[in-house]
Amino acid sequence: MKSNSFDRYFGITTFGESHGPAIGVVIEDVKPGIEFPLNEIQKALDSRKPGTRQFTSSRKEEDKIVILSGVFEGKTTGMPICLVVYNKNHRSEDYEHLKNLFRPGHADYTYFKKFKIFDYRGGGRASGRETISRVAASGLVEDLLHDININCYPVQIGKNFAKNYDLNFQNDLYWHDKTNFEELQDDLVSIQKRGDSVGGIVEVKIENLPAGLGDPVFEKLDANLAKAILSIGSVKGIEFGEGFNLANLKGNEANDQISKNGFLSNHSGGILGGISTGQNLIFRFVIKPTSSINIQQRTITKKGEEISFISKGRHDTCIIPRIIPVAKAMIKLVLADAISYQKLIENQYLNLLDYREAIDKIDGDILIALYRRKELSELIGKFKEEKNIEIVDYEREKELLKNLRKKAKTWKLDEDFIENIWKMIIAESKKNQ
Ligand SMILES: Cc1cc2nc3c(=O)[nH]c(=O)nc-3n(C[C@H](O)[C@H](O)[C@H](O)COP(=O)(O)O)c2cc1C
Repeated sequence: MKSNSFDRYFGITTFGESHGPAIGVVIEDVKPGIEFPLNEIQKALDSRKPGTRQFTSSRKEEDKIVILSGVFEGKTTGMPICLVVYNKNHRSEDYEHLKNLFRPGHADYTYFKKFKIFDYRGGGRASGRETISRVAASGLVEDLLHDININCYPVQIGKNFAKNYDLNFQNDLYWHDKTNFEELQDDLVSIQKRGDSVGGIVEVKIENLPAGLGDPVFEKLDANLAKAILSIGSVKGIEFGEGFNLANLKGNEANDQISKNGFLSNHSGGILGGISTGQNLIFRFVIKPTSSINIQQRTITKKGEEISFISKGRHDTCIIPRIIPVAKAMIKLVLADAISYQKLIENQYLNLLDYREAIDKIDGDILIALYRRKELSELIGKFKEEKNIEIVDYEREKELLKNLRKKAKTWKLDEDFIENIWKMIIAESKKNQ
């Protein structure tokens, strides 16, 4: 089972452990010739790392993206792209005291039960660092999203609720309610002082989404978004539109009635039957309080002995600001998939832009081939000169020409045209020999 791949339209496979040499992603099926958005990807990664926002851990993680393959002179080559971030902030000694115990709230216990191997250094593959790969991969689907706008902000952190939305109010916590921001900060400071942590609820509002995205029955848009969001560590629940409150409504209240100008409400959250309605797509997900806390807790060792321990080290009071960029990345990947499938259904790939892209690529390939041919013919010239071999081999040329005409005929190309091109190429080569 390819459980580390997000593999529908885009072939994305992520790899690496929190305290291994690197975290990375291999992305296949990317068109050649696309400007590689290195700066945008780096910016997105910077927003995910700890130490840059209030109430996240003071750990310094540089998270510098390195391209290992698939990009040449700033453009995608069409070959697999491999991106890595080397893990530089190795402090495995921080985890020495955790070597034989299962941290409450973490995946240590279940990973050990499943794999019988215990990477105690920062959670291994269950670490938040795993999400670097997702954020990096999502940078490559931007051009499919056009003007789709993904807003992602907390509506609850701990016991604080955002009620007054002011999208211009910007801060480290992505909090949109000016009226209680100070209260929220005071609350978080006191939680931090106690060595404890909080979780919260994040709301997502996606604007300018066309109707028709999502592929029933197993690739419904809400199903795929739910899977993508729930695959993020520490996310424990998701609801679309009116969500769990639908249990309190009557059909008459829950239905989104339709007028000739469109829907009259949006209790469904912009999805019906797994397909986008064209309204704003709205959902909320819940993030549990950060598992690592500086408070004494009970657990067991690998041998099953009960112990009491305290998690030392640098901890996040609230990981919501670090989850938001990851959630956005997962949403982008799901939407890009849905958009790509919809384009296939609607034959939208057969538009002028795509034809032009394809023909430009072929022209580029012809140039590269001519350049390589020139290099080779110079080498052949040198070789023949050193070995005193006659430069021009008329018999070979005649044979080649015969074969070319035969191939041209098979492919329904004008044989004289092909012969003329070839003669011009040969004449050019001879200048270099
Ligand atoms: C971006 C990101 C950063 C995270 N950082 C931390 C962290 O610093 N401390 C922590 O205890 N958990 C952190 N987590 C959550 C754990 O990875 C997660 O709770 C743990 O693996 C158990 O998985 P579960 O909560 O999904 O069951 C982070 C998750 C993400 C996505």
